[in-house]
Amino acid sequence: MAAMTYSYYPPDVLPQGFRVIRGANDLLFTEDGKQYIDLLSGSGTVFLGHANPAITRTIKEQLDTLWSTGAVPTCIASEAWTAVEAFLPTSHRLAVLYSTGMEAVEFAVRVARQVTGRKGLIGFNGCMHGKSMAAARLGWPNQLATLPDFHSLPYLPEEQEEVILEHARDLLATGSIAGVFLEPLLGSRGGHIPSRRFVEQLSSLCGEHGSLLVLDEIFTGFHRTGPVFLHHELGVTPDILLVGKAMGSGFPVSGVVLDRRYPIQGSMLPGSTFAGNALAAAAVVATLREMRTRDVAGTVRAIEQTVLRSLNDLGELGIALRGKGALWVLELPPGLSLSNIVARILRNGVVVSTTANFIRLLPAATIPQAHLTRACEVIAQACRAGSGAAAQAGSV
Ligand SMILES: Cc1ncc(COP(=O)(O)O)c(C=O)c1O
Repeated sequence: MAAMTYSYYPPDVLPQGFRVIRGANDLLFTEDGKQYIDLLSGSGTVFLGHANPAITRTIKEQLDTLWSTGAVPTCIASEAWTAVEAFLPTSHRLAVLYSTGMEAVEFAVRVARQVTGRKGLIGFNGCMHGKSMAAARLGWPNQLATLPDFHSLPYLPEEQEEVILEHARDLLATGSIAGVFLEPLLGSRGGHIPSRRFVEQLSSLCGEHGSLLVLDEIFTGFHRTGPVFLHHELGVTPDILLVGKAMGSGFPVSGVVLDRRYPIQGSMLPGSTFAGNALAAAAVVATLREMRTRDVAGTVRAIEQTVLRSLNDLGELGIALRGKGALWVLELPPGLSLSNIVARILRNGVVVSTTANFIRLLPAATIPQAHLTRACEVIAQACRAGSGAAAQAGSV
């Protein structure tokens, strides 16, 4: 019997013995000699392709030099700092590098509380900020994450934007709110993006009532949706910006970015064992350097066109397609079996990401157009077959 490996993929979906041994750009190769087009991309982290030679070279050099120093500074972490800040407006600075997204979110809670001297936090249902207690309490449904001073507001499409803003206004007017956390694209749920007007109004409400706007662009940042950060298209500037995923090419790294108006005090952003780790820093330096040599925004636009052209028609089956750039979500209607459809997609050589009744497509920016077109064909066929089977069984 094969040894257990970690997987949060639905267990009835993976083919027998499916275990990856190698990746090359947008492709994954399994132990049994099969090849898959990868639209999961390390949960959106491997944005410039698996084993990208330029990135691999820098990380190998770092492996030969220095791995970790714990609390004392390294040259490579300083380089990573500079590389990240080159993507930020001069009004903002990188305050700290951590390892995971949830760690950045946890410490952003601390910063918001320390800067404002208040305790209250607002999050929106369904936004993904991570699975630790505070991060989960801010958005992701988790009955165990019961913490005081956290307020949940509905997100699209549960309520109209006007109604949501009314709720936000009422809470902010109490003067007890330290920060409002928002994922600007519902990346682990339905792929919804709030309107520019909604985000602008939320931002000005925060300003009016002395609360900080915290945008979690861990998923959407570094061109995943096209622009460097999605908020560039939403007309707001966050007080705190959270970054991660694509900037590390799969190495565990995240960051908390702060408006320079807020001084950093030691107790706000404490160290942790892997914070600023030299190997992760090398991955950031190499990834962001590589990003600058490419027209990533242009290739992401081409990805968006291919996805829309290939999958928009699935609306006929009641399957909604939402997202932007290289981050897409297919929402299956009740009655369609996610497991059946995803199993069929895998059998035909494509790996996708799944959550609840959603199929996510997170191609690398480096995916060849022919592979993306093929992957979309496979997905469309699987959805049509799944819908036909459901109709025959009378479940839709
Ligand atoms: C927007 C966003 N924020 C935070 C996180 C949490 O990151 P991590 O899983 O590294 O804790 C995720 C994870 O998918 C995410 O998508």
